[in-house]
Order: sequence, then structure tokens, then C-alpha cells
Amino acid sequence: MPSTTTSSGPLFSPELISPAVAASLPEGHSLRPIQRTDFDAGFLDVLRVLTTVGDVTREQWEARYDWMATRADEYFLLCITDPTGKIVSTGALIVERKFIHNLGLVGHIEDIAVARDQQGKKLGLKIIQALDYVAQQVGCYKTILDCSEANEGFYVKCGFKRAGLEMAHYF
Ligand code: ACO
Repeated sequence: MPSTTTSSGPLFSPELISPAVAASLPEGHSLRPIQRTDFDAGFLDVLRVLTTVGDVTREQWEARYDWMATRADEYFLLCITDPTGKIVSTGALIVERKFIHNLGLVGHIEDIAVARDQQGKKLGLKIIQALDYVAQQVGCYKTILDCSEANEGFYVKCGFKRAGLEMAHYF
């Protein structure tokens, strides 16, 4: 599994970025792993369309980023940027290593967000396709996610199907 991360470089190897998805983006847009400087590129602002982010400082961002960078074969966060370099969409794949299914790997898709003024332009679909590509490249046998009823149609369009029931225990 590629692991070329340095704290100043991309979070994971750009070799895991789908060439087909990258080539299908609107003019001037890019698909890439997140990087440590993305605090200034609007990463947290995009996530605010999804849920509460809180007042995360630069220092806190860098500490969390550096932690993820030490787990570059487990945490795959990517983004799409617009022609100005601003992040307009993001998503995460977390790879779980199991004993079952012959030491199978499962990809958990998390924190999908598209900037409000960019929604409906297939950027969400492309983030999911890009995360699925990473999952397949690193050897996952499936990707799974939790979503609201309101987003079920989006994930069906992305090729997912309803399987099981989410349970949660909040602390
Ligand atoms: N219900 C039904 N269909 C939908 C929905 C929806 N809520 N959203 C999009 N679609 C359809 C589109 O119409 C399109 O269909 P088409 O191919 O027939 O034209 C297809 O799904 C692809 O849509 P995109 O343009 O790629 O959608 P978008 O870029 O707007 O991204 C997303 C969708 C991610 C839900 C975005 O609206 C968003 O960021 N919402 C707020 C945050 C959020 O809810 N994130 C998901 C949380 S779940 C998780 O993270 C695992």
C-alpha cells in the first residue's frame, strides 16, 4: 500500500487519485488528497454544510492532521478545489482491518460535503467515486456508510443500496 506521506505533503499518495474522476471534473477543478495547508483553503468551511465543526484552531487542525498523517494507510481524506484553489467538496475513507472475511478490509465512507453553492453539479458523486477508487486500490472488499433518509437517493445514484440498520450510542 503506498505510503509517501510527509507532514508538508499530501495526506496520502496521489497515485491513489482516480485518473478518470480527475479528468471528468469541471474546467479548472482539481481532485487531490488533503494537505496540511488546507486549513487556509476552506476545508472546515465546507464541512460546516454537513454538521457542527466548532472553533477548531490552526494548531488543533495541524495536530489532528499530523496524527492522521501517521496513519496514511488508514485515513484517506480527499477534496475537490475550484479554479482559485478553494475547497468546494470533501470526503473521507477510513480503512478498517478485520480478522473475518479472510483478514478483509472494509472502507468506511464519512463526512461527505459539497459547498452549498456548488451542490447539484455532480461534485458529490465524484467524491464518492474517488473514495471508492481508493478503497478498491488498497484492497477493500466493500465500502459502507451511514446517511439520513433525505440523502438515500443520492447514495443510490452513487451505486449504493440499503443494507442493515444503523444503531448509535452517544456519550
Ligand atoms: N436525494 C436524492 N437524490 C439526490 C440528492 C438527495 N438528497 N442529492 C443529490 N441527488 C442526486 C442528484 O440529483 C444527481 O442525480 P442525477 O445523476 O440523476 O442528476 C445525483 O444524486 C448526484 O448528485 P450530485 O450533484 O453529485 O450531488 P451534490 O454534489 O449536491 O452532493 C450531497 C450531494 C453530498 C448530499 C450534498 O448535497 C451535500 O453536501 N449535502 C450536505 C451535507 C450532507 O448531507 N452530506 C452527506 C452526509 S452522509 C455521509 O457523510 C456518509
